[in-house]
Parts: sequence; C-alpha cells; structure tokens
Amino acid sequence: MTLKEKYKDYFDVGAAVNNETIRQDKDIILDNFSMITCENEMKYGSILRRDGSYNYSNADEIYAFAKDNGLKMRGHNFVWHNQTAYNIFDNDVEYVIQVFSEHVKNMHERYGDIITAWDVVNEAIEDKSSEYLRKSPWYSKLGDNYIKKIFEIVSGIIPSDVTLLYNDYNEYIPDKREKIIRLIKEVNSDEKLIDAVGMQCHVNLYYPSIDLVRETIELYISLGLRIQITEMDLSYYKFEDKGCMDKPSKELEEKHAKMYGDYFALFREYKDYIDSVTLWGVADSYTWLDDFPVRGRKNWPLLFDENGKPKDSYYRIMDF
Ligand code: GLA
Repeated sequence: MTLKEKYKDYFDVGAAVNNETIRQDKDIILDNFSMITCENEMKYGSILRRDGSYNYSNADEIYAFAKDNGLKMRGHNFVWHNQTAYNIFDNDVEYVIQVFSEHVKNMHERYGDIITAWDVVNEAIEDKSSEYLRKSPWYSKLGDNYIKKIFEIVSGIIPSDVTLLYNDYNEYIPDKREKIIRLIKEVNSDEKLIDAVGMQCHVNLYYPSIDLVRETIELYISLGLRIQITEMDLSYYKFEDKGCMDKPSKELEEKHAKMYGDYFALFREYKDYIDSVTLWGVADSYTWLDDFPVRGRKNWPLLFDENGKPKDSYYRIMDF
C-alpha cells in the first residue's frame, strides 16, 4: 500500500513540485501523493511579466501533469510580499485592483477545475513581536485593511466550494500565533472570508514540540476554521545552527523518523479538521533547504532519500 492509499480516509497527502521534479520524481509522485502544489510557478511574479503579458507555460505543464494523472492541486499563492508582480504597484490603487482581479479570474478559468484550495494571502504577519503586519507592497498600496479587501476580491471570483486560506510559517510560535488569530478575526468579522489556516509547518528536529503544534491546531479550530498543513519539511538543523553535516548519524535519522511518526499521528487525530498535508518537496535530491538558511548545505527533510527510496521516516508514518 502506498502513502496516498494509506491516508485515503484521513486527508489528502500532497507534495510541492516544479517542472523538473514532475519528470524526475514522476513515479514517486503518482504512487504516493493525491495532490500537488506548484513550488513557484503559480506565484504572481512567475505569471505576470514586467511588460504586462502573461507567462503560463510552466504552470500549464504542471497543471497538465496533475490533470492527466487525476491529481488535485493547491493554488499557491495570490498575495505575498515576495515573488510578486512588483511593477503593478507603480500604478494607482484602482489599477492594481483591476489587474489583480483579472489575474485571479484567469487563474481560475485556466486551472480551477482541479484546484481545491488557494493560499490567498501568504505570510502577512510580522515576525518581530512589537509589530503586527509585515511591510509589503500590497500593504503600502492598498492600506490597513488590505487583507480583508484581497479576500473580498478573491471570494467574489473563486466559487465557494474552493477553500480560501491565510497561510504562514512559525504559525505555532505563541506570539506570532496571537497575531494570526487577531488577523483572522478581523478579516472574518462580518462574514467568513477565510475558510482555513495554512500551517506551513517548516519544522526541525528541535523545534517546535508536538504539544505546541497540538495546542496551535486546537486554537485555530476553535475559531471555526479548517486546517491545511501546506509546506511541511523536517530539517536536521536548528534554525540558528550554521554547522554542516556530511550525512546524518543513525541517531538523528531515528529522531527524524520518530518525529515524522509523531506529527502524522497528531494529524490523524485531527483528521476531521485537516483537509490535506503537503510536503514541501518530493525527495531529498531537491529541497529548498539545501540553500536556506545556509547556502549549499545539504539537508534531508523529506520522506524519500536522494535516490528516491522511501526512508525510515516514510515507513514510520505508514505504521499505524
Ligand atoms: C515560503 C513560501 C513558499 C516557498 C518557501 C520556500 O514558505 O510560502 O512558496 O517559497 O517559502 O521554498
């Protein structure tokens, strides 16, 4: 039995892909995942060129791969301070809203038949505890209520059976979590515009604790929201660690497997609230963590190894 079969009655299990990994890791993806997310190819900055024309070719190819193989997709993302169509902000607010609405319509018409969820706003909360919202060209242009405005625009275009999310990282750190909750309450004060919280879940062997994640899931559920785990990977390094291992010890590999097992056991407990769990990559041969936060340092955060073989971490989440 493969991963997606094992989790059929729990939630969709997904992976972030790009135009290379859909070729290189095709069999792993098709055997194990019921859903994919474009790592970068559907971001506004990948779609809208500086001259105002659209470039759908990479997203089209990934969409065709999903459609031909019966996979669902998560849309990622509409509004982010990074990788966005920066030059639209040289214009007035009305223009920004008009071209953005057109973009949302286009994305829906082109890919909507297999997209079940959209990360509408990504990472809008500031990490520094003294500040609330992060600086962003969207914020500067659209003003204080920009997130609500964006959700209003998107929910006017995307049909209501598609889940609309607010998505963020460090979503379990109490300080930041409070601000995420404040934001969701503000946006949803008149009508429910945000359906679900996207918990990115970029975690490591040392932080956070499963208890903290459990407490976080409980808090988000108490707001009447659904949960999606949107970008999970489990790094071998503490965030501030600048060290480098050639390969992990057996002991750390065992810790990795145990923690994946514990995380998925937790997710299974909350299966009535969790729609999907997406890994941020397919196999350790390619992970963004090889270049973040330390450039060129190998990491092994996923369920399949560099040769595409299932790791102990994979077997552990299958063991129930
Ligand atoms: C954030 C974004 C993702 C991706 C990762 C790094 O979490 O939401 O789209 O860019 O950073 O790969």
